[in-house]
Formats: sequence, C-alpha cells, structure tokens
Amino acid sequence: MISATAQRRHAIDLDDFTAEEIEEILETTGSMKEVLSREIKQVPTLRGRTVVNMFYEESTRTRISFELAARALSANIVNFTARGSSVEKGESLIDTVRTLQALGAEIVVIRHSQSGAPYLVARHFNGAVINAGDGRHAHPTQALLDLFTIHERLGQIRDLKVVIVGDILHSRVARSNLWGLTRMGAQVTLCAPPTLLGPATYWTTTWPEVTISYRVDEALQGADVVMALRIQKERMQAGLLPSLREYSRAYALTPERLAGLSEKTLIMHPGPMNEGVEIWPEVVTAPNAVIEEQVTNGVAVRMALLYRLAG
Ligand code: CP
Repeated sequence: MISATAQRRHAIDLDDFTAEEIEEILETTGSMKEVLSREIKQVPTLRGRTVVNMFYEESTRTRISFELAARALSANIVNFTARGSSVEKGESLIDTVRTLQALGAEIVVIRHSQSGAPYLVARHFNGAVINAGDGRHAHPTQALLDLFTIHERLGQIRDLKVVIVGDILHSRVARSNLWGLTRMGAQVTLCAPPTLLGPATYWTTTWPEVTISYRVDEALQGADVVMALRIQKERMQAGLLPSLREYSRAYALTPERLAGLSEKTLIMHPGPMNEGVEIWPEVVTAPNAVIEEQVTNGVAVRMALLYRLAG
C-alpha cells in the first residue's frame, strides 16, 4: 500500500495535511510509542542520517523531544542555537541553512520568532524542513501530539467538542490545532476576551469552520476537551488586558468553573504554563488532566514525523 505521506517533504503547518496523512502519522506514533516502552528505546531506522535542531527562540519541550526522537531513531542530531553562533556576527538565516546543508544536514527542525521563517528555509534547503514553531503562525508538531493524546484517551477525534481558551490571537498552537482538529472532524470553539481573539470575521472568513465565544462558562458546556493557552505578561503591557487578575477571574480554568463538566473531559495545555493565571494548580493535577502525557507523547510524534519525512 502507498503511504499517504510518501510525497511529503516538509511539515510546516497542518493546513496542507490530508486527514489520511494525519491518520498515518498518528498510527506511526503508536508504533513509536511501543518502541519507547521497550527496555532498549532505540531502533536503527535513521542510522547515518543527520538532523539539525535550529532554535532561534527558547524551548524546553519541543527541542528536547526532537533530540530524544532523533536519538531513538539512531540519527545524528546536532543542536544549533542562534545564541553563540555566527548569527550573532550577522549571518543570515539563508546563509546559516546553506552552511548546515554543506555540513551534511538532511532534516532541519526550525523554531523562529518570525512567522514564515520555515518557508524561507525550505526554499533554500534540499532536505526536509519541520516547523518547531514560528511566530504566531504554526506549531504543527504540537498539534499532532495534541491530536494523538486526544485520540489515545477518547478513542476518536471526529465530532468531539474542543474548546481552546486563552491568548488565541498570538497562538501558533491554536492555529495549527484548528487546522488539525477540524480536518479530523472535531468541532472547535475559540474562547478569549475580544482583545485576545481579534475580529470574529478574521476567524469566520479565513479559517475552517469554528465557533467564537467571549464567555468561558458558556463555551465550556458539553466540552469533550478543554485546552488552555498561556497568557503572556507582555499582553498586559501592550494594553490588551487590564490585568492578569481580571483575566483569571473571567477565563482561568478553575475547579469551580470545570465542576459541571464530565469527569472524562480532557484538560490540556501545551506548556509552559502560568499556574494561577490561565489554569489552577488543582486543575493541572486533576485525574482528567493530560498535560504531562502531552509532553511524553511529543517524543513519539516527532519520531513518527522524522521517520515519515526521512523517506
Ligand atoms: N509547547 C511548547 O512548544 O513548549 P516549548 O516552548 O517548551 O518547546
């Protein structure tokens, strides 16, 4: 049987992934998870292949899980950070990626604060490019690990009600999840104060079908999955929020606010979290919270993607 991802070279966002491709990656993730449950958590699949982690922005989960994923597949992994490199002498992104290619890079994983940077890299690199988060544009591997976690826990994605609450306007996680979740048949509600959502017409004209809500208690009704997003303090300084306390009072995931939900409703957060701002510590440790599972699944998802793109 021909693989659904056979023709795919890059993973820059989920907007150009078919449902079949996503299904194949989720299935491969299951196999990779099995590898990671063995005593020896390594297979020779990518032996001799070279992966470069290019991180122009801070990361804990994504960078380390790509590194662990590459190692579990026996690839050579090189970690490049802008700080301490010739970027500080003014070397451009294009020259940097050409240099890495000349040094043998075959797969580049890039995180960058500028939306669209991975597309630029893809135009100047002969191998595969994986977006590890660019500006507010996309974070496809986070969305894939979220999809995997939901499917593993609830046995389906189709017809689930997924509510994403928080700083939607600046969130690459929300955008990639919106593509991935809707392509897999989920109903998505985006909930935030108007200043952190942007104009409703932006969401209803440019994006897949989505419900917009400004009232969290209303949005949460009947939710199968609730995903909180990080509130950045800069938003307050930019005048988008009166205060973090105001935001918490109206939108934080608190035990009281979630009390009416089914005990099966999954609580998710991509991390890093501001506990006590967008999510309460008791919610983070509740039995239906899968925040640590999301992190764990990140390694298997990234193994699956590296394996599929290395072909
Ligand atoms: N979720 C996420 O991208 O986390 P990091 O910034 O730690 O990689």
